[in-house]
Amino acid sequence: GAAELGPYRHYMQKEIFEQPRAIGDTLEGVTAIVSGLFDGPNNPEGGAADKVFAEIDSVLILACGTSYYSGCTAKYWLESIAKIPTQVEIASEYRYRDSVPNPKTLVVTITQSGETADTLAALRHAQSLGMPHTLTVCNVSTSAMVRECSLAYITRAGVEIGVASTKAFTTQLGGLFLLTLALAKTKGRLTAEEEAGHLKAMRHLPAALQAVLALEPQIIAWAEDFAPKENALFLGRGLHYPIALEGALKLKEITYIHAEAYAAGELKHGPLALVTSEMPVVAVAPNDTLIEKLKSNLQEVRARGGVLYVLADADSHITSGEGLHVIRMPEHYGALSPLLHVVPLQLLAYHTACARGTDVDKPRNLAKSVTVE
Ligand code: G6P
Repeated sequence: GAAELGPYRHYMQKEIFEQPRAIGDTLEGVTAIVSGLFDGPNNPEGGAADKVFAEIDSVLILACGTSYYSGCTAKYWLESIAKIPTQVEIASEYRYRDSVPNPKTLVVTITQSGETADTLAALRHAQSLGMPHTLTVCNVSTSAMVRECSLAYITRAGVEIGVASTKAFTTQLGGLFLLTLALAKTKGRLTAEEEAGHLKAMRHLPAALQAVLALEPQIIAWAEDFAPKENALFLGRGLHYPIALEGALKLKEITYIHAEAYAAGELKHGPLALVTSEMPVVAVAPNDTLIEKLKSNLQEVRARGGVLYVLADADSHITSGEGLHVIRMPEHYGALSPLLHVVPLQLLAYHTACARGTDVDKPRNLAKSVTVE
């Protein structure tokens, strides 16, 4: 009801602004990287994750929707920090195709609700193929997914009401980053200095998220440009490519603007042909070299009015100009930067939806939890 909304107009807005608290709660009490963080409610006696982490040689992530994009981000962490070969697959694809099972794979499901039918079916499919090591990153400790996976990390986003997921996503990323560090440590790939550095960065996340939320007025100005548009393109690279995908998903879910995301290097291989004054291009977290490349690409369409909206690094040298709008992130955040860069994109979708007058918390045709196929 209205009381719970407090000063906010919608649950989605409230949930976006709850992210500093949600990530703080999710990572609370984590003072060292230990595999025991992943034993979950099924292993009160402890020691289960320790055994599994020592045994596995790869990771298979299964999820849907926004949770799938947190998995795509985690793949970059798992391969670059823990050096563990990682596959990410859409649950509804995995469950229906022939795949090659590896009993030494850690099957990781990611789900806010823990009840998504396709993700549960994908888990059971993996188990039926002889993959016994299962772990879920889930926001509901009493859910079917937590019951059925041997290991778990319970995120503490709190109840999420807005259909478009926000705080569940950032807390999943927090849990997946911890998982990366725990696997890296088990495999002897994390020095004490690295561990201390990552823990320090994690502790600072609530304050860093707060600083990003303060960019809201600049995002509202972008949203005014986006509101009359019917198409938008999002570009990202590396760790931020999944963030571009998530930004495009948020925009289409609640504003009904057609949005798609591309890996930045692919712009010239097709989507550049679509760029006009009616197709704004959002570029996520690019460093200056990437922006220079994008600018020269867009020069080619400048005559047709192509406009670039850039979420730049804190120390980027790029400045706003003709056909180029820049918002600089408050600080540099290394590996955890996706958690921060997604926030302006959530706000962009939210404020564009408000400007268009759509039903933000209950977008047409969509459900919060898809428990049937
Ligand atoms: C629905 C929701 C999305 C969510 C997806 C997966 O499509 O609208 O916000 O990302 O389901 O849900 P889960 O609970 O498994 O994360």
